[in-house]
Amino acid sequence: KLEDYDVDPVHGFLPVNPPPLRRLPEPYGPWESMLDDLSALLLAGGLRKVVEKLPLLSTDFLASEREWQRAYLVLSFIGQAYVWGYNQDVAEILPMVIAMPWHSTAQHLGLKPVITYAAVELYNYRLLDPSGPYDLSNFAVMHSFTGNDESWFYLVSIATEAVGAPALSAIVAAMHAIVDEDLPCLNKSLDTIAAAIEGITKVMMRMYERNDPHIFYHRVRPYLAGWEHSSELPHGLFYEGVLAATTYSNKSPAERSPIHGVKGVFSNAFSTYNTVPSVEDIPKSGEAINGTYRKYAGASAGQSSMIHCLDVALGIEHNPTKTARCTSAQVSNDSLTDTCPVVDPTTPPINHIHEMRKYMPGSHRAFIQALERGPSIRQFVHDIVNHPMRDMDNTPGHDPAVVDEVSRLYNRCVEGMRTFRDRHLQIVATYIVLQAKKRKEVGHFDRPPGSASTRVRQSLQARGTGGTDLIPFLKQSRDETSEARVQLE
Ligand code: HEM
Ligand code: ALA
Repeated sequence: KLEDYDVDPVHGFLPVNPPPLRRLPEPYGPWESMLDDLSALLLAGGLRKVVEKLPLLSTDFLASEREWQRAYLVLSFIGQAYVWGYNQDVAEILPMVIAMPWHSTAQHLGLKPVITYAAVELYNYRLLDPSGPYDLSNFAVMHSFTGNDESWFYLVSIATEAVGAPALSAIVAAMHAIVDEDLPCLNKSLDTIAAAIEGITKVMMRMYERNDPHIFYHRVRPYLAGWEHSSELPHGLFYEGVLAATTYSNKSPAERSPIHGVKGVFSNAFSTYNTVPSVEDIPKSGEAINGTYRKYAGASAGQSSMIHCLDVALGIEHNPTKTARCTSAQVSNDSLTDTCPVVDPTTPPINHIHEMRKYMPGSHRAFIQALERGPSIRQFVHDIVNHPMRDMDNTPGHDPAVVDEVSRLYNRCVEGMRTFRDRHLQIVATYIVLQAKKRKEVGHFDRPPGSASTRVRQSLQARGTGGTDLIPFLKQSRDETSEARVQLE
């Protein structure tokens, strides 16, 4: 059942009933006030000072899932703003007041303490008219770092979630239809899935309407970056107060500490956490002991569970990225090439698409895994199309015309995914590749060359905010899509 995975049969991965919370109750007022002023504080240059004065608040007082999600959103915006700042040096150490509760909320939700698609899209939408439609005419976002172009970037993805949502029930229905060998039902489901994919592509193409590529490239992207391959944060980000593999202890209400002291609820911060060592998070030598360096990729729509579900349902398989991975030398050489010529032998091939699942809410990841365990639609379609008795089989439901329709509809779904990825590549060319080239031609008008913020933007020329090598990764993903097509062999 979809609901068991926090998936809504009508609206998919968008949280509904209740919708995302617009404000946290006390004692979280200080976080909310900080977020109210986020853009203004960035512009005024005083954001970091204000963050450092925040009280250390325990997550023990978050009562509902929506509160946890809201807290994660608030901390994600504040955390990213703190790290990247505004045309200034990057902060390598994240203060405990953000690091600890961010880590705790991420852990509760199965996410990571870094900005994700969940933070900026799923938990960030609201309806202008609560009884109106779930589409671009009625969606608003609650928060952005910079304003309208950025909001449109989020809104388009939110709308793709809404338009794709009917595919999820259809996928489950298609899997049941396979078990029951009910071809008409399979066809009906595939038709719904194909229409959803085509709808996603159509909505995605509206990106051009209100998101200016120049603003997106120069102003918005840097806030969405993570610290997995960052030349500015080569060790990752230091999360103060977050110890090796810290796990959040879910205390019963009776055990919760009262609010007290200037430092807030976490006056005895460490006692609120249990620690379990893990190889991944062991501090490096020379590192301060009261925290850990952690490397995380930034936000990307590749973290949308919707697209993963469609791939899994259609049997579209993605492999580790075959292409060369850009070395940091290349990045600083300002190179931006389709095929990255320098292979970095120290980086093993990574299956980026699968990696992105680590940055989804745990329940949605579990849904994708459940679909993976379901019957293979592709195998079924392949087998009936290639059945030796195909044209002689008169069993009801195996009518050759119906079988042909199955393969036609299945291939329409695969083609739809291919077209989606083709169009997406065009968007990436406009919003990233072209902007990076332009910047080289016209020179850099607003930031001193060699400054940290310039370097951050430079390193985002060769990599997506989600940490991939952009075009080679996306081309591979697109080409793998077509391989799923089923034909008579
Ligand atoms: C991945 C850029 C909008 C869906 C990526 C990647 C980049 C990128 C660079 C590679 C991952 C990374 O390292 O970040 C952009 C830009 C957009 C945009 C510049 C608009 C200005 C969208 C929208 C969707 C989308 C609206 C709709 C769902 C995806 C998916 C992936 C991806 C599914 C994973 C790759 C794949 O499955 O083939 N995007 N994106 N993107 N993006 Fe976008
Ligand atoms: N993943 C998108 C980028 O790299 C947002 O710009």
